[in-house]
Amino acid sequence: MGFPGTGRIWMNGRLVEWKDATIHVASHVIHYGTAVFEGARCYATPRGSACFRLDAHMRRLQQSMKIYRMEYALDQAGWEQAVLETIRANAMKACYIRPIVYRGYEALGVNPFTCPVDAAILLWEWGSYLGREALEEGVDVKVASWSRMAPNTLPALAKSSANYANSGLIKMEAITDGYAEGIALDVSGNVSEGSGQNIFIVRDGALQTPPIASSILGGITRDSIITLARDLGYTVVETALPRESLYIADEVFVVGTAAEVTPIRSIDKITIGAGRRGPVTEALQRAFFDVINGDVPDTHGWLTYVYPAEAELRASRSTVEAGG
Ligand SMILES: Cc1ncc(COP(=O)(O)O)c(C=O)c1O
Repeated sequence: MGFPGTGRIWMNGRLVEWKDATIHVASHVIHYGTAVFEGARCYATPRGSACFRLDAHMRRLQQSMKIYRMEYALDQAGWEQAVLETIRANAMKACYIRPIVYRGYEALGVNPFTCPVDAAILLWEWGSYLGREALEEGVDVKVASWSRMAPNTLPALAKSSANYANSGLIKMEAITDGYAEGIALDVSGNVSEGSGQNIFIVRDGALQTPPIASSILGGITRDSIITLARDLGYTVVETALPRESLYIADEVFVVGTAAEVTPIRSIDKITIGAGRRGPVTEALQRAFFDVINGDVPDTHGWLTYVYPAEAELRASRSTVEAGG
């Protein structure tokens, strides 16, 4: 994923050229990881560009801020508008969206309160995180030797930069050992999540996924997949999963804004199911991609069109074409 090095970045309400969007090295966030952020996506659909669950992402951003006692002069609607305006200002069709709220430049003691709360919104083009092929073939992963954060240490429900020190260790270990991704356990030894994805297993046609209390981020893709799976008639249970439940699952897949829905074909060199994408994973992948690609009606109201006039025009054209 290389950066384009162009475009404009929203910084505290001003649009700044990519190369000028800099902060001072003495900013608190650089030394102490004092930032919370979001990762969302905007997709090109037949009705124009649409952000997937923008409201949920901006809500989670504010919840992460709340946990870290950060205040900023934007409310839910203000955050959503700021993202939409940044996409429009860059005339992007499809992009990855990265709002970040961080402690800036004032003093360098540990106390974050002394530093201002600053914010930025960056956009860039980001394809499939684990590769296109991974979406069909599945990936090989290992159980990480690093655990996820213990409860009451670093809050897993906050999407804070500090948590990604742990994710980075998991990811580096996986890559060094020749795997695409690492799956971390929680401190009790139950399955938690990947370095940047939630995980599901399929057993006897039903889905299971670790609960919020297993040190996971409350993923928006996880929530979407639970909803879509229930729509399709599958049973979904949020339950503590012992490590070995991964090895004996019929199917395992990971989900996230970056990874979307990616099948796992082996864990610790143990083949999962038939060693390729299973039928339940495929059905859920299809249901998910149909929504984000705008190929089915948006029954859950998950899409926010970036250019509403374009969306209306294209919708009326397709009605005319369909003889409506
Ligand atoms: C640690 C972690 N878990 C889960 C997820 C999936 O969350 P979402 O579906 O909201 O992108 C992410 C993605 O950001 C993550 O970083």
